[in-house]
This record gives sequence, C-alpha cells and structure tokens, in this order.
Amino acid sequence: MTQNVTAAPAAPGSAPAPQWWRDAVIYQVYPRSFADGNGDGMGDLPGIAARLPHLRDLGVDAVWLSPFYASPQADAGYDVADYRAVDPMFGTLTDADALIREAHALGLRVIFDIVPNHCSDRHEWFLQALREGPGAPVRDRFHFLPGKGPDGELPPNDWESVFGGPAWTRVEDGEWYLHLFAPEQPDFNWDHPAVHEEFRSVLRFWLDLGVDGFRVDVAHGLVKASGLPDIGHGEQVKLLGKQEVPYFDQDGVHAIYRDWRRILAEYGGAERIAVAEAWTPTVERSARYLRHDELHQAFNFEYLTTDWDAAALRAVIDRSLTAMNAVDAPATWVLSNHDVVRHATRFADGDGDGDAARGLRRARAATLLMLALPGSAYLYQGEELGLPEVTELPDEVRQDPAFFRGAGQDGTRDGCRVPLPWSGRRAPFGFGPAEGGPSWLPQPDSWQGLSVAAQTGDPDSTLEFYRRALAVRRAHPALGAGRDIVWLPSPEGVLAFRRTGRGGSFVCTVNLTASPLSLPTPGTLLLASADVGPGAGRTVLPADTTVWWAA
Ligand code: NOJ
Repeated sequence: MTQNVTAAPAAPGSAPAPQWWRDAVIYQVYPRSFADGNGDGMGDLPGIAARLPHLRDLGVDAVWLSPFYASPQADAGYDVADYRAVDPMFGTLTDADALIREAHALGLRVIFDIVPNHCSDRHEWFLQALREGPGAPVRDRFHFLPGKGPDGELPPNDWESVFGGPAWTRVEDGEWYLHLFAPEQPDFNWDHPAVHEEFRSVLRFWLDLGVDGFRVDVAHGLVKASGLPDIGHGEQVKLLGKQEVPYFDQDGVHAIYRDWRRILAEYGGAERIAVAEAWTPTVERSARYLRHDELHQAFNFEYLTTDWDAAALRAVIDRSLTAMNAVDAPATWVLSNHDVVRHATRFADGDGDGDAARGLRRARAATLLMLALPGSAYLYQGEELGLPEVTELPDEVRQDPAFFRGAGQDGTRDGCRVPLPWSGRRAPFGFGPAEGGPSWLPQPDSWQGLSVAAQTGDPDSTLEFYRRALAVRRAHPALGAGRDIVWLPSPEGVLAFRRTGRGGSFVCTVNLTASPLSLPTPGTLLLASADVGPGAGRTVLPADTTVWWAA
C-alpha cells in the first residue's frame, strides 16, 4: 500500500523563503479552463480565486496564470491588445489584485504570463501603424517590409509561421508584416527602443500590483538575425527546436533579460522571478538564459519531450543537471502544459489510441520521478486528476489557430485545454456554477469520476497521490532544492538514484519495464506510484512504478 504522509503547507504570512523558486512546485492555471465564476462557460479570475484553496491543499508553492489580458482571443489570449488590462471575459483589474492578495494569504506565490514577442493586431500600436502607412515611424515598432517580386507580391523572406503557412501577411497598402505565429499576432521589432521601454513599464505595472514573477512567452524569439535572412528550405516548423533558425535563440536576446533582471531586483521582499519559455535546440542553449544576471528558470522542454525510456531519461537528467549547475541555476522539470498532449495520454503510446490504464500508471510514475529530482517542477492543471487528453473534440468546437492553419496537422492543443471537472454528476462538473451549464469545450461524461470531489478521500486516487507526493517532498530534507543525484547500480530499464540532504538521505527507484521486478529494498518506503509487494530484503515493483524511500 502507498503510505499516507501529511505535512502542512507554508504557514500563510510566514517570512518569505530566500530563493523560494529554486525548489518551487509551480502549478499552471489555464484561466479559460480552470473555474468559471459567472457561469458564462469560460473560466475567469474570480473562479480561480475561489478555487485557490484546492492549490493550497494540493501543496504547490506557486501558481502561474496563462494570459488573461485584453485580447481578441485569436490565440487564446497569447494575442494581447492591452498589456495592462484584464479582458472582460476574465474579470477586472480589481479581480487580478484580489487574486494576488488571496493567493498570498494562502501562502501561494503568483506568476503571470508576459508576451513580449508579439501583440494582437488590435493593439493600439499596430492599429496606428496600419493607419499611418508606409514610412510612418510607428511601423518601425514591428517588422513591416516591402515584398519581393516585380509588384512586391512575394513575402520579404521564406520564414514560416509556427502555426503553418508563411510568417508574413500583406496589408492593403502593399507592405508585409512579420508574424511568427498567427497573422493576428504581429511580431514586435526589438531593435526599437520604444518596445524596450514599453515592456519595462509593463513589468513594473504588474510587479507594483504584487506579482511574484513572470513566465516569458517565446523568450527565445524576440531578436531576429539582422537582415532577416532566408532559411533556404520549407518544412521549417517540423524542424523547430532541432536546428538553428534566424528568428529563434539569437544572442541578442540576452541583453533584454539582463535589463529585466535589474528590474526584478528592484523589488524588495521575496525575490521576483522570470521563467523562460525558450524552445532551444539543446538544454545547454537554454542554460544561457539563466546566467547569474539573466532569468531564473527555463522550462526543460527536452525533458518534456523525452519518451518513457530509462536510458533516454537518464541521459536528459544528466545533461540538464550538468548544464544548469554550470550556471548555478535550478534545473526544472515539466511533463505537461497547455501546448502539448497530456502526459497520461502521451505515455499510453500514441495520441489517444494507446492503453489508458498504462498511460495513467506511467504518468503517476513519471510524476514521482520528476518530483524526486533536484530543482523546480511545473504541474499543469488537471494532471493531479490524472486527466487524459480529450481526443474526440468535434472540429466545430475547436478554437486553436494551429488546428485551422495547419489543416489539422498540429491541432492537438484544444484537447489538453478542456475545462476541469470539480464535482457533481452532470457536465460541466462544477466548472461553472450551474449543473448542465455551458463550458467552452465539452467534457467527456467519464470525467464525472475524475472530479476533485470524486477523488478526494479516495486513497488510491491520483489526486490523493499528488497531495501525498507534494507533502513528502516538502517534509523530506533530501528532496526539493539541490544540485546533484548519485545513480545507483540497477538492472536495464530501471532508474535508481540517491539524494542526500541535511539530516536525511533519499532513494528513488523507477521500474520503466513492462514487467514486475524484484529489487533490493534500499530503506523505508515513503511513497509509491502503485501498490508494491513487500518481501524479505527485496520489494516487487510492478511495471511502470516509481518508489520513494527514506534511506
Ligand atoms: C507559447 C504559448 O505557450 C502558446 O500557447 C502560444 O500559442 C505561443 N507561445 C504564441 O504566443
């Protein structure tokens, strides 16, 4: 049996921990889909605020909110029309202020998303640039250029949008503008001082309101290679993250983050932080964003994209720790977010056509492995319920621009954005106030049994498993922050490592094979992702199982 351990979260109002972010467990809230306070079918800030006790009880340290700013929602809020305003569909600035205060009162830190690579095509600067036409100075805040070909009918270069199709759109006066994402998301020109000044001011606006940090969207994209050179071939999107491109991970971005670090450091009290969403070709390139005077953390996408495979995981863990230790930054670990297929489904093999029970078993084991590693971990809303990807969404309810631009090729992001089930027997399962009320994406009927209420108190549920895991992680002196692990000898397909902290040593064992294995018992069982069989000096780990030991 798994063992129940309780530990209180940090006392509300207690003194801020120094460098709290080094081992923080940070929970991503996707505001559209977390909780709907007003019953319109769309999540909102008052809904989130009302559900914060769930996050306190879960035992996370911080909450990161995806964008809720004024936006026409061409890319679910990653197209920002006003960086200082809350979109009415999510609430008001007063609601944002209240949410920060309530989170702080519960001992939770709050991270907002900042979107500096591009804005919305309804942002005032872009509207002005369209109105004033070619040659107007305000156009220089974006990448407006004449086209190629006799009549300028061809885009200025061969870059492709991440969402598919050309990265350029032509406006009525004949010029083209750059958008690495949807046409409704024009890229800023970070060679322009006004862009720098604007984002300094936006950072300060939210810091003044009390936010504890930022998740930096497309942190690797702000600076483009000078002259915007052609790449020379198509299919760029398929190769993203695997090859160098002149619009991502350019050396010039680092000066921006040095500037931002100085701004973050101006604020007293608990440290304000920034985490980079930087899809770089290697974890070593990601570490460059975390040099001592730059950002604090970067998402470990190499880890997220690694299969459930012992050798591959061991290699990426080693590479991550080495790269991050070299710049004295904490490693981060993440398995799911609002852009990828949920890991309970990824690990089932294939996009939803795999074995769901195997997917969930591996997902729980993967979570326990992730939470055992030194550094900080990111959770995506709903993974604590073991939610799978929703693969059966009808096309007419989908909203992801990637689905439409890519003709379905990469249209998987709505399936991980389906509203959370909280309670009750009828959809939307407590997501909104009314039984049978609306939700912007439909939930499967089977989610009744996966709701927070349905899982609470059931010792075998994934929710209670997450609660125990986070409580043990908080309580055990060898878990959380740290730099290193020591690999222990183990059979093929098994990972075993030791961590030693002040006053305690800890061992994590993972059976990634498809069969139960009898392994030496290294200490006292703390927690297991599945029932383990006791034995004399040995313990049987079922297939796809992680165990934590005090050793
Ligand atoms: C990354 C965000 O996570 C994703 O949802 C968005 O579409 C792109 N950046 C563009 O902002």
